[in-house]
Amino acid sequence: MKLLVTGGAGFIGTNFIRYWLRHYSDDAVINLDRLTYAGNLSNLTDIAETHNPERYKFAHGDILDVAFVEDVLKTEHPDVIVNFAAESHNSRAILHPRRFFETNVMGTQVLLDAARKYEIQRFHHISTCEVYGELPLDSPDTFSESAPYRPQTPYNASKAAADHLVNAYFHSFGMPITISNCANNYGPYQHPEKLIPLFTTNAIQNLPLTLYQSSHNRREWLHVEDHCRAIAAVIVRGKVGETYNVGSGVEKSIEEISDFILDVLGKPQQLKTYVPDRPGHDCRYLLDSRKIACEVGWEPKIPFEEGMRETIQWYIENQEWWQTIQQKRNGVIQEDKWETFTGR
Ligand SMILES: NC(=O)c1ccc[n+]([C@@H]2O[C@H](COP(=O)([O-])OP(=O)(O)OC[C@H]3O[C@@H](n4cnc5c(N)ncnc54)[C@H](O)[C@@H]3O)[C@@H](O)[C@H]2O)c1
Repeated sequence: MKLLVTGGAGFIGTNFIRYWLRHYSDDAVINLDRLTYAGNLSNLTDIAETHNPERYKFAHGDILDVAFVEDVLKTEHPDVIVNFAAESHNSRAILHPRRFFETNVMGTQVLLDAARKYEIQRFHHISTCEVYGELPLDSPDTFSESAPYRPQTPYNASKAAADHLVNAYFHSFGMPITISNCANNYGPYQHPEKLIPLFTTNAIQNLPLTLYQSSHNRREWLHVEDHCRAIAAVIVRGKVGETYNVGSGVEKSIEEISDFILDVLGKPQQLKTYVPDRPGHDCRYLLDSRKIACEVGWEPKIPFEEGMRETIQWYIENQEWWQTIQQKRNGVIQEDKWETFTGR
């Protein structure tokens, strides 16, 4: 099988390409990526060096570029498209919403049209738990696949719109799609602007850990390797037209995450600094992931504390990787200055 992976130079895409090539030794992967500030081709240097171009290939370009996308499909004839390409950082979406709608919605639409034209056998779209909106902190509820979509931030709204588009291509054109909506991922190769790498790299450097004032807000945490295994399971055993939630059931507050990181690194509590919440900062998400367990036979394997310790160790051992990214200071977000940007 040949896969076209969009956004393969980003965090989850990188881990997924590594996962797929490791587990499916007869398959080939084309990594299509625009290499935005979030894309880092050096994540896959060893893969490019140890696999011949028949098994791994990079195509540099934008999913919004119809001619480019069509050319890749026409030349490479992939069987499956796995769409990770997106603007993915909620904080950036508060400052520059338009780019999120261009890439996440229109980019997905370009891919769907091209997939239709070149009769791709499966279009698997990567989405998020955040499309369902937020849960109250004290609620016993979880989001199942039939929960209504109630996105509350520009990023979430763009992902929700893309999900609707993908489903519409199934219902209107019979496009063989699947969608997975996953919880917050953590693991190696995550950009140091995201919470766990940000806190880890700041703690390593004895810099403040900036927690939003609502630090009791909770997230569900999924190791990226478990996520990649879930995507593979949906591609291989999932039913066309279906959406699958992918969660771990492990909820931790932002306060608990910061405490865990400080504890593992032996750093003082005084590094914690509290800043105003980001506008639209959701309280809590928790997925009901029973469908993927029952219908596809997937469940998470990596215990949270073990996965977190390994992840923190990865950032300790790969300081050059994240320092190179930090030195570019590409549109760095000042998480303590929301009132400047929003007029609040
Ligand atoms: N990270 C998480 O915790 C999480 C949780 C739920 C869902 N998701 C979804 O998973 C997917 C991957 O997330 P991630 O954390 O790896 O993101 P990321 O920001 O690390 O990577 C995104 C990749 O997409 C590429 N890209 C961006 N715009 C592009 C364009 N127009 N054309 C081609 N390539 C483009 C970037 O260069 C980058 O390599 C996204 O769709 C995101 O919404 C992520």
